[in-house]
Amino acid sequence: MNVITSASDLRRTLAPVGERDRIAFVPTMGCLHEGHLSLIRKARRLADIVVVSIYVNPMQFGPNEDFDAYPRTFDADCKICEQEGVDIIFHPETLYPADGIKVSLKVDELGNCLCGVARPGHFDGVATVVNILFNIVQPDIAIFGEKDWQQLTILRRVAEDLQMAVEVIGSETLREDDGLAMSSRNRYLKTQDRALATNLNKALAAMQARAKGGETDVRKLIAAGGDILGKAGIKSEYLEVRDAYTLNPVTVLSQQHPARAFIAARIGPARLIDNAPLPIPGEEFKGLTIADQKEVSQ
Ligand code: PAJ
Repeated sequence: MNVITSASDLRRTLAPVGERDRIAFVPTMGCLHEGHLSLIRKARRLADIVVVSIYVNPMQFGPNEDFDAYPRTFDADCKICEQEGVDIIFHPETLYPADGIKVSLKVDELGNCLCGVARPGHFDGVATVVNILFNIVQPDIAIFGEKDWQQLTILRRVAEDLQMAVEVIGSETLREDDGLAMSSRNRYLKTQDRALATNLNKALAAMQARAKGGETDVRKLIAAGGDILGKAGIKSEYLEVRDAYTLNPVTVLSQQHPARAFIAARIGPARLIDNAPLPIPGEEFKGLTIADQKEVSQ
């Protein structure tokens, strides 16, 4: 495994490789957990060369967010990547010019809803850094987690709208045994908050269960999820059902709008997010519900 810290070295290394081999790219901010590993394993299965980037991107953090506190565990991350058969880790000190970036990407309404409300400019920062990384790595495929569904949706559009030669591939959310979506930010949770956090996935699981039972009225689904949060004393930042691809609000589940439920809440010091697909009326539910996945008790 090769650890490369400069963009020009990485370009030089990958240029001849890209001619003959398929390159898969997994961008991360490090502090790798099983969720990241599932992306790396998928990349390994789908390509000849696997490149993982580890870079805590300042442009996607707001002024009062956890950029400085964000966990950095580079040595442990390297060991994990080595074990997983990663070919190259790209670990740049910075990806931005010394005098600040003067040209960047602007995400439209896809980036202003859900997490974009509390984190203005966040998705401009994500889209810009991923664009920079794509330009350096020139991958054939890039893998992103469904855990950050809004991010995945936006990055698909970055690749499509800007006519990039990369295929953006989504990968299923990995969960702890009690259903909590794995996240680098889970380490901020003390025991009590950790127990509370599982109400996020329970709320989504309850919405899936109601929808599977035939409920199509989104207000009622949100009430079912909200009930679980309310009983746990959690005030969500948002609990919404939206079209999985346009991210437009949905009021009734229908075949026209494959829908997902989205949630964000602050639990102790951590801001946590999760999302899950809802069944399409009249169609067999593809994939596993959160409850099936980990047999979450409700
Ligand atoms: P980071 O939070 O490190 O996540 C890196 C990748 O891992 C993302 O695609 C994310 O969706 C995926 N991931 C995180 N938790 C997961 C889980 N429980 N199951 C499956 N996949 C999971 O997302 C970012 O970094 C950054 O915004 C980045 C894209 C690297 C741009 O800076």
